Amino acid sequence: MTEITGKTRVLGIIGWPVAHSLSPLMQNAALQALGMDYIYVPFPVTPEALPVAVLGLRSLGVAGFNVTIPHKTTIIPLLDELTPEAAFIGAVNTVRREGDQLIGDNTDGIGFVRSLAEDLEFQPQGKTILLLGAGGAARSALVSLCAAGAAEIIIANRTIENADALIEGVADRYSQVRLSTVTLDSVGVDQYLPVADLVVNTTSVGMGGSSFDWLDLSLLQKGGRVYDMVYSPPLTPLLVKAKGAGHSYANGIGMLIAQGEEAFRLWTGAPPPPGVMKTRLRALLDK
Ligand code: ATR
Repeated sequence: MTEITGKTRVLGIIGWPVAHSLSPLMQNAALQALGMDYIYVPFPVTPEALPVAVLGLRSLGVAGFNVTIPHKTTIIPLLDELTPEAAFIGAVNTVRREGDQLIGDNTDGIGFVRSLAEDLEFQPQGKTILLLGAGGAARSALVSLCAAGAAEIIIANRTIENADALIEGVADRYSQVRLSTVTLDSVGVDQYLPVADLVVNTTSVGMGGSSFDWLDLSLLQKGGRVYDMVYSPPLTPLLVKAKGAGHSYANGIGMLIAQGEEAFRLWTGAPPPPGVMKTRLRALLDK
């Protein structure tokens, strides 16, 4: 354990609730592996307390922090600046300090694309991707897949209006990507499974016993891959189906790790120690 001195710098995560967060474990493992004089702590912040908490983080000289549910969007007006990526996604997951300025960034999208490469050997360029869900996680995935050169993205969502609104906000900037929406049921999804290279679940379905009972992944083309942003349980109901149908699959742990490594780099300026966050989390979560 790092010895805390008068010079130790503080990093952390704000969320409500925050007790379940795995970020303190993996960030402290990486900081300690490099012997860096930082400590990363959880800050439980209610929605009502967010403005006061951000003032407090400023005045306490915190070096940087992660932002999780439910603050990723509501924190935006409380910051001094956003990176173009965070501004376009409309959500912040990482804040860094530059002088007395707090700058909001978003490392979820880059973390997702890195995880696709590292965990599924999947490069989005020229590919057809079926995204399940149209919330905040879907938006960061959509933007990062468009930026990485995907050819076609189909958004399947329970509430079709939310899927339409999602692509409306992205279509102008990425006019070269074919974007469409369908309902999140077999009527909407079955027609796209034979042509999709990748299926991604961005919804919370799969947590707490819920599942996509109707989804028939045997329709997914041979060589098609399945990514579930959910990682608890590690083998989600969707991934059980992927495994059963013989497809390559990965859960969202790789994305959690990669977004954390990118945040580490932003705060400390140092490359994260290879494999340390991954080893720490896998020891905890995997079989
Ligand atoms: P996040 O920021 O984590 O993406 P969100 O913005 O609340 O969370 O988005 C949740 C997504 O999961 C939405 O696409 C939501 O569908 P609706 O737009 O129809 O609400 C989807 N979702 C949540 N629960 C679901 C369920 N039981 N079945 C299908 N989709 C669900």
